[in-house]
Amino acid sequence: MIRMKNIVKGMFVTGLMTLTSLPASSQQETTIKIYPQEGKNVISKNIYGQFAEHLGTCIYGGIWVGENSDIPNTNGYRNDVLQALKELKVPVLRWPGGCFADEYHWMDGIGPKEKRPKMVNNNWGGTIEDNSFGTHEFLNLCEILGCEPYISGNVGSGTVEELAKWVEYMTSDGDSPMANLRRKNGREKPWHVKFLGVGNESWGCGGSMRPEYYADLYRRYATYCRNYDGNQLFKIASGASDYDYKWTEVLMKNVGHRMHGLSLHYYTVTGWKGSKGAATKFTDDDFYWTMGKCLEIEEVLKKHIAIMDKYDKQKKIGLMVDEWGTWWDEEPGTVKGHLYQQNTLRDAFVAALTLNVFHKYTDRVKMTNIAQIVNVLQSMILTKGDKMVLTPTYYVFKMYQVHQDATYLPLELTCEKRTVRDNRIVPMVSASASRDASGRIHVSLANVDLEKEQTVHLSLENVPVKSVSGEILTATDIQAYNSFDKPDVVKPQSFKGVKVKNGVLTVKLPAKSIVTLEI
Ligand code: AHR
Repeated sequence: MIRMKNIVKGMFVTGLMTLTSLPASSQQETTIKIYPQEGKNVISKNIYGQFAEHLGTCIYGGIWVGENSDIPNTNGYRNDVLQALKELKVPVLRWPGGCFADEYHWMDGIGPKEKRPKMVNNNWGGTIEDNSFGTHEFLNLCEILGCEPYISGNVGSGTVEELAKWVEYMTSDGDSPMANLRRKNGREKPWHVKFLGVGNESWGCGGSMRPEYYADLYRRYATYCRNYDGNQLFKIASGASDYDYKWTEVLMKNVGHRMHGLSLHYYTVTGWKGSKGAATKFTDDDFYWTMGKCLEIEEVLKKHIAIMDKYDKQKKIGLMVDEWGTWWDEEPGTVKGHLYQQNTLRDAFVAALTLNVFHKYTDRVKMTNIAQIVNVLQSMILTKGDKMVLTPTYYVFKMYQVHQDATYLPLELTCEKRTVRDNRIVPMVSASASRDASGRIHVSLANVDLEKEQTVHLSLENVPVKSVSGEILTATDIQAYNSFDKPDVVKPQSFKGVKVKNGVLTVKLPAKSIVTLEI
């Protein structure tokens, strides 16, 4: 009987969310049961990956100001941003794009800076770039941050030879032409480069290809991207966007285990044509719709995963969601094509809810990269001249650090739901739990309800609760954001709303709040 109960949990609990409609009042009841004994999959820290594209002021101005800048910097990297990123524990950083990657020719970004040719960034506003940030500057940044580089190779407008030589330049320790060129440019030892993307959005800005054609190209390019001197590449094929299940099917069928990972892009966006809505001005209805759209990623993941499972039962090929996040209208007054947007508490919810979903599918989802790290789309950091501000999304990533490389713990959640625009059903509470290497359990909770507090009854099967501490991210207004004048409007505070009685935790979760508890 007990065995049976466990099987049922094993089958359903990780994906189970029981939704019940409760009578309207200013408070709601939520029940969460966590099953610590059933945790088996590790939440890869690479789910907390970032993405830095040559787009707007992400690289130039945001990360890189050059050695001669008045903005305080270390070897050209701005000090304030470096410090903030170090504290974020970035595990992996994708570069140089995005769409930019398929027009980037890496040889233009090496050697003496004054000799590097300028280029037009055709994808993003026609901005002129001087290539002062190239391979050395990127890989050295990864070393400073202690993160894995994820290089996105040019398949759309580059050649097999060009990509093969780039891999040799970065990773060969031999007496080879590219390794010697790297030495001549000041770097004796190769860098460690694990993740290699073979193209980006090859169905669109990366070459407008059909999946069958791209699959063949992938096979050709990947053949010549060698493992030099102990460096083992993890090769990632350019994957589908959103609901394009055919792309995944063809890639799994025609490429299969020649790839180590297959990417997927999913943005929380109202549509690709016309206005996407202002980042800071939206109605409650818009907010709930956004929650529904971001949670829809779960259905999308499930469908792509089902296809992958058909061809790869042992789950050897990782699903890499290497672009995700919110996409709003550009801030008025900013350069068109630079995708600069503000970031409110609404964005923080998109981050929290999406990360909770990624945790659940951690047996297949091995990396994700939110778009993007500084000054572009749903960024961690915004800069303006010498000023820097940390966004509400930054703080979610910081509060969620505790889940990096921790064991995912299945849970059962019963809460109120709301039917919103487009018939989307949005649960008012989202949760995720994990146990870290030292045995501490962390539970992240988000109360999406804009008005009502949630009383959460939280139990952990067979785990004695000794002490609980927590942090909360909230604000008086869902449209609240951190500006250069008021940088601390949305910031984590210590959370005191937990009581423990007979092993059950009662958490008073304020309206529109995100909490992480340590148990
Ligand atoms: O992140 C911005 C852009 O969105 C990327 O360059 C591209 O891959 C995607 O369409």
